[in-house]
Amino acid sequence: MKILEAKQVTKIYGREGQGATHQALTQFDLTVEQGEFVGIMGPSGSGKTTLLQLLGTIDRATSGQIWIAGQDVAQMNDQELADFRRTRLGFIFQEFHLLDSLTLKENILIPLVLEKRSIAEMEKRVDELAEYLGIHDVLDHRPYEVSGGQKQRAAAARALVHTPALILADEPTGNLDSTSAKALMESLAGLNEEEKATILTVTHDPFTASYCKRVIFIKDGRFFTEIRRGSSRQSFFEQIMHVTTALGGESYELTQSSSQKY
Ligand SMILES: Nc1ncnc2c1ncn2[C@@H]1O[C@H](COP(=O)(O)OP(=O)(O)O)[C@@H](O)[C@H]1O
Ligand SMILES: [Mg+2]
Repeated sequence: MKILEAKQVTKIYGREGQGATHQALTQFDLTVEQGEFVGIMGPSGSGKTTLLQLLGTIDRATSGQIWIAGQDVAQMNDQELADFRRTRLGFIFQEFHLLDSLTLKENILIPLVLEKRSIAEMEKRVDELAEYLGIHDVLDHRPYEVSGGQKQRAAAARALVHTPALILADEPTGNLDSTSAKALMESLAGLNEEEKATILTVTHDPFTASYCKRVIFIKDGRFFTEIRRGSSRQSFFEQIMHVTTALGGESYELTQSSSQKY
């Protein structure tokens, strides 16, 4: 079953006749099936965040169509989009975006608060995810009392707690050290397998991307190529490095930092 279908999506920032315009995305096509774990890679400025914002219904495309979980998002008004995001999507951001005044558990519960679910049911779901993500012991702590890795795993729990149709992550390991990045990606890969969670993550890090099952490369706002993982993550990592180098840009620096993670 298709969870996401984007067709000929173009995004132009700025208005014609009113100063500079910038075409960040050009006729981009993307289909994601339920249960996929997809990575989006590309050099800085290639349009990755723009794509994620359009798919996350945070911004609207200039032209083209986007269907998520069978709904044409262009047809929804702002209130419908807000409800759609809350119930059908889950987000993980580079900067965690947890509320400091709440405990990790309360943060994780946010997406369930407006839903009519029993307390027991909500607690069970949080327990299950926290156990899986290894943050059970720190559930009553506030974000500033835990490590970056624990914060991001709490953010992952919040993104998954309401079993959304699609989870979108923008550079989820961007603020994590290599050990925490590995723990996060292993957890996401496990949840993708066990819960059939559909995950789309933007990253410029080949190590992070090697946990995905398919990686799509963007260059200058256009589809460049895509590769699929075989049985070994190590060889997928090498394939990703290869394309990253072919794409140019920041590739050399990434080669150095990423290979140190092994
Ligand atoms: N709000 C905006 N207004 C104008 N230009 C933007 C805006 N957001 C992004 N851009 C431009 O669009 C291009 C793609 O940006 P972005 O999607 O953030 O790339 P990436 O996430 O791959 O680094 C860049 O050239 C960026 O400067
Ligand atoms: Mg970006």
